[in-house]
Amino acid sequence: MNEIPVEFLRSPLSKEELSAEDESTLVDAAGNKFTKDEQYGFWNFLPERSPLYSDQEWSSFQQLIDNFVISYNQNPTQNVSYDDRPEVLKFGEFCKFYGDVLDIGCGPHPIPAYIKFRKNEDAVYYGIDVLVGEQPKDMHFIQAMGEHLPLADESFDVSISGTSILHYINPQAGIEEALRVTKSSGYLCIWLGVKSEDAPVPAESPEWYKNLDTPDGAENPFHYKRYSTEVFEAFISGANGVIDEKEVHEYDEWRQNVFYRIKKA
Ligand SMILES: C[S@@+](CC[C@H](N)C(=O)[O-])C[C@H]1O[C@@H](n2cnc3c(N)ncnc32)[C@H](O)[C@@H]1O
Repeated sequence: MNEIPVEFLRSPLSKEELSAEDESTLVDAAGNKFTKDEQYGFWNFLPERSPLYSDQEWSSFQQLIDNFVISYNQNPTQNVSYDDRPEVLKFGEFCKFYGDVLDIGCGPHPIPAYIKFRKNEDAVYYGIDVLVGEQPKDMHFIQAMGEHLPLADESFDVSISGTSILHYINPQAGIEEALRVTKSSGYLCIWLGVKSEDAPVPAESPEWYKNLDTPDGAENPFHYKRYSTEVFEAFISGANGVIDEKEVHEYDEWRQNVFYRIKKA
């Protein structure tokens, strides 16, 4: 399931075509090598260092990812689309899957529940995440950063991000990349979780959570910053996206799930 058509693949930084050194190594013109996992057959396109980020941001990014790993190991179903919760089903319906579908930040499970429970069997599903998570996946999988997609322009009919781009240090770069690989005839769907600043903190947190380090410059162990809809919508237009549809679902007094369908301007 992890095999991915090579014509989709590009160098994550330069976007040049790749050449095959052997069956499990691809090389770009600058000599960067990308390898295939021996056991599960997915490609690893994580850059050694993202040129988008300062040293401090890069080390904060690593720390955020380490915290995700701890969280999923401690509580594999927390903060991910694991079961058929109403908001998960609603996002799956909102996405209206067809053709080639790319899920950016697909999470640690074999397939996220918004696809699993709302699957169009005629569509083909591809997932990208910095974390390998559970393998094998029930979809094609590539290990990569959403800010540096190792994919050709205009490849996907539907690109989606379920509560993932809001974890990036630079969400605008993530939206720009997602739109680049989306066909002009298609769209990008983003699920943004919004929490107001006066939301109460949980009375009790598990011990493993209390032991997590908050990265330098970050608001909490999992989010570099929390974004309001206003700020997030400025990222969308900054990335040359146009909001085609927006659904707001109240979760409770302090939290909302906001779904965006975005097209290229
Ligand atoms: C809250 S989880 C959501 C996962 C999945 N979409 C779901 O709803 O079940 C956020 C995911 O985004 C991934 N992620 C965070 N930063 C990323 C980045 N810069 N590029 C790609 N994936 C990233 C994390 O590894 C994690 O799996």
